[in-house]
Amino acid sequence: MSKILNIEDLSTNELLSGFSEKSYSHEDHDRWKMMLNAVRDAQEGVACSSYKKGMSILSNSFIDIPDLKELNYKMESHTGWKIMPVDGILGCEDFYKLLSKKIFPSATLVRDWHSTSFTGYPDLFHDTVGHLPLFFDPTFADFVAKSSEVIHQVLIDTPTGGEKEKAIQNFTRYGWFTWEAGVIKENGKGRAYGGAILSSAGETTNLKERGFDEFNLQEVFNQDFTDQNFSCRYFVIDSYEDLFASLDSIKSIYNLN
Ligand SMILES: [Fe+2]
Repeated sequence: MSKILNIEDLSTNELLSGFSEKSYSHEDHDRWKMMLNAVRDAQEGVACSSYKKGMSILSNSFIDIPDLKELNYKMESHTGWKIMPVDGILGCEDFYKLLSKKIFPSATLVRDWHSTSFTGYPDLFHDTVGHLPLFFDPTFADFVAKSSEVIHQVLIDTPTGGEKEKAIQNFTRYGWFTWEAGVIKENGKGRAYGGAILSSAGETTNLKERGFDEFNLQEVFNQDFTDQNFSCRYFVIDSYEDLFASLDSIKSIYNLN
């Protein structure tokens, strides 16, 4: 498991140093293009307006496997967020600490042929195509940074043991049912803002078949899920303000001012 220590001291070049060593095969490039075509088709009538707006700025970067340095430049100049290439899975506290500092950790691996419509592990396609366009909506990006700051604070304040395990479980479910599998109402219709939906043609189909329920924080905390399959459930918010309201509830539950 990767361990991040002095995030504040890392320069953009240091953040991106892991990506410059990465090379991709012809098959990787072919899979990327095939997945992009499938997902763009599946997103029709499903993607929320924030995602579509961000995608209109980033789409040229996604025609082929993106140059993460170029992508980082676009992100930083438009949104103030940076990208950090990460191989493997970060520990919880490091993950939220990075996001609270407006640094988006991205996998560099491109998923294999068997996982083109769904992957249970982080990959470059999910992280960039699924998530980055939403960061061009300043309200959503602000929510990710602020919620990550709160979650990181709760995690470092909670002693190791059952209480911490429960907090990690709550926040894993919260992350899954918001920025991974979240749905927002637009003109009375549910539109996806979650990256797991927006990076998976299969997940998009699953959402259409299952429908969604009104967002409720306690239900989210109580709702088990597995990231090894399509989501068992989806929750819809009226606007991103609902997410900030849920964050106020989290602060209250965990006694944070
Ligand atoms: Fe994700």
